[in-house]
Amino acid sequence: MSISKAAGSKIASPKSIEKRLRIERLVTVNEIVTFDTGSDVIQGLTQTPKTLPTRYLYDDRGSELFEQICELPEYYLTRTETKILQQYASEIARITGPCELVELGSGSSTKTRIILDAYQQLGYPMLYVPIDVSAGILESSARQLLADYPSLQVHALAGTYELALAKILPSELPSRLIGFIGSTLGNLTPQESDIFISQITNALQVGEYFLLGIDLQKPKHILEPAYDDSQGVTAAFNLNILEHLNQRFEGNFDTTQFEHWSFYNETENQIESYLRSLRSQSVELHALNLTVNFALGETIHTEISRKFDLKIIQQQLTARGLVPLNVWTDPNQWFGLLLCQRQA
Ligand code: AVJ
Repeated sequence: MSISKAAGSKIASPKSIEKRLRIERLVTVNEIVTFDTGSDVIQGLTQTPKTLPTRYLYDDRGSELFEQICELPEYYLTRTETKILQQYASEIARITGPCELVELGSGSSTKTRIILDAYQQLGYPMLYVPIDVSAGILESSARQLLADYPSLQVHALAGTYELALAKILPSELPSRLIGFIGSTLGNLTPQESDIFISQITNALQVGEYFLLGIDLQKPKHILEPAYDDSQGVTAAFNLNILEHLNQRFEGNFDTTQFEHWSFYNETENQIESYLRSLRSQSVELHALNLTVNFALGETIHTEISRKFDLKIIQQQLTARGLVPLNVWTDPNQWFGLLLCQRQA
């Protein structure tokens, strides 16, 4: 067919993109029920102290605000990790050899592209398996990548990380690299991380790879501004969780009556983020049949961002069968990138 001729040209035709794209939706009945009924929101807002599941930060507006956070002068994480990747991606590709690239969470594709470029330069076949809860985000980012990488195949999995890792079939290429970068591991409690790391181990065959990007422990005066920037983007990001609830559950949160509050907990080694009520008030979430009362100064805990110690995380990974082969950092040792291999 004449279509195949387009594969070598700079702009791949839409049809050739179609042929290289597969999106699989993985959803359990249980997940549909929890997400759409908001039972997790009811649970969080009726307990003391109040909490909300962190994932509600990421509706369309929230994802957009997070992209803006990544550009902030105070938010060193993204740019530091990007630099490390730029420096070591080709070394990673040489170590793993040809492999399928599974990525947990598909934010902006800047960092993915650095990795794909390294595999492309070595002439390796490229199979990218992004996993994300949002099928919409998966599709739009996959299409952009497919347009720019004519030999790329994308098998996207729409679902939770847990489900996708449990359902993923063995790699079609000689090896597999599961990438979990951006320090998203920091949003999980230590207990949740343990379970999560075991799920990664189980999704890999012996000899396959795990690439983990984590933010490292550092002084408070560097960490705290990264989560409370001078332009107020982080505050807007955190407050947007209330707008998301308003939309999803017919709520009447007034975001001007709450403020963003975050601090570094030096005992737990984590940034803790909250929304604090600026007055005594009551809020309705009609679709949930829920009235929530707030005292002046009362908080809702929305997120933790854990900061890691390289030695300790390496021990934890090793204990779960993921042996660190290489650990890369930036000159300040602010961020860590670990390439691990699944052992027997
Ligand atoms: C995307 C989870 C890595 O915790 O640093 C940024 C999210 N929250 N600013 C982080 C976030 C507030 C971010 N992660």
